[in-house]
Amino acid sequence: MMKPFKAGITGTGSILPEKKLTNSQLESIVETSDEWIVKRTGIRERHILEDDVPLAKIAAEASVKAIEDAGLNPVDIELIIASTCTPDYLTPSLACTVQGEIGAKNAAAFDVNAACTGFVYALQTGRQFIENGTCKNILIVSAEALSRATDFTDRKTCVLFGDGAGAVILSKVDDGTGVEEACLGAVGDNADVLTLPCLYASDADIEKRNEGKKQVLWMDGSEVFTFASRIMSEATKNVLDSAGNEMGQIKYIFPHQANMRILQNAAKRLDVSMDKIYSNLEYTGNISSASIPVCLDEASKKGLLKKGDKIIMVAFGGGLTYGSALLTWSK
Ligand code: UT7
Repeated sequence: MMKPFKAGITGTGSILPEKKLTNSQLESIVETSDEWIVKRTGIRERHILEDDVPLAKIAAEASVKAIEDAGLNPVDIELIIASTCTPDYLTPSLACTVQGEIGAKNAAAFDVNAACTGFVYALQTGRQFIENGTCKNILIVSAEALSRATDFTDRKTCVLFGDGAGAVILSKVDDGTGVEEACLGAVGDNADVLTLPCLYASDADIEKRNEGKKQVLWMDGSEVFTFASRIMSEATKNVLDSAGNEMGQIKYIFPHQANMRILQNAAKRLDVSMDKIYSNLEYTGNISSASIPVCLDEASKKGLLKKGDKIIMVAFGGGLTYGSALLTWSK
């Protein structure tokens, strides 16, 4: 039976910092080449937060844009869920800082961290508050400053990551649109293939890193690549099946933007054309949990999404985590 109301995306906003880091600039930092980076990842440039700008600033700016896009005021927001694995502070949470910055004084606020899958985890969490009648309007903001957790002497990771923020408003909608299904998962016994220590680091994690660089991201790229190539198509199929939909009904897939070859592998396994797979990786790099909401905002502003279009969002990331969601566009 169709639910009387659902949680729909009614507004989007995003910010990519102005400062850019191009492949040719990276050539003078580590032993790499534009050719290698483009061929092996599809990335040409990424946006980087200035040193004196807190992540919360771009998170708040993206949030204000999303609230305006939904035709709401900050005081209409009843809950803020922020996803990040690179917060300015452990406490206050990013969500609380955003709440204060934008004047969303009626909102409760908390963070989730599921690394690059954070937006899908936050969406599935927020959806519950709408569907059980607790909230009518929720702000989900995913913001990341990966450049601050990058070892710029490690060519295996420093060419991949960038900074950015994306936000959506999840509102109670009763027109048949909104989130239909979402699937979340984790593989904690593979946790050590992608790590970013905070207040503690194991001896093994200290050993892996260049000396003196404890609080930087370390990754076994090929292990993550293998996991991603499999899970992106599996998680997409799972959510499609749970919603009782066929791929032909889906307008776009919005995947986490990590590597163009991962997107191509997923397209191949799903037997869909790359035209159906939205990508901005070329000029954002991997911005972790911010990548899907930034893509959604771009696609919405470009007029690629119309009310009633079905889309799938699918992500994987540190943890390891993965998740997918299928929704009908509400705007
Ligand atoms: O959001 C989730 C987080 N992460 C990901 O999704 C990343 C998933 N993994 C990947 O995207 C890929 O594994 C990488 C892009 C990280 C690496 O690509 P790869 O094709 O798997 O390369 P590789 O690690 O197998 O390395 C191949 C070669 C190595 O040289 P040797 O040992 O064969 O001589 C590397 O040292 O490429 C070398 N290499 C580089 N060369 C130039 C690695 N990084 C670079 C670089 N420039 N930046």
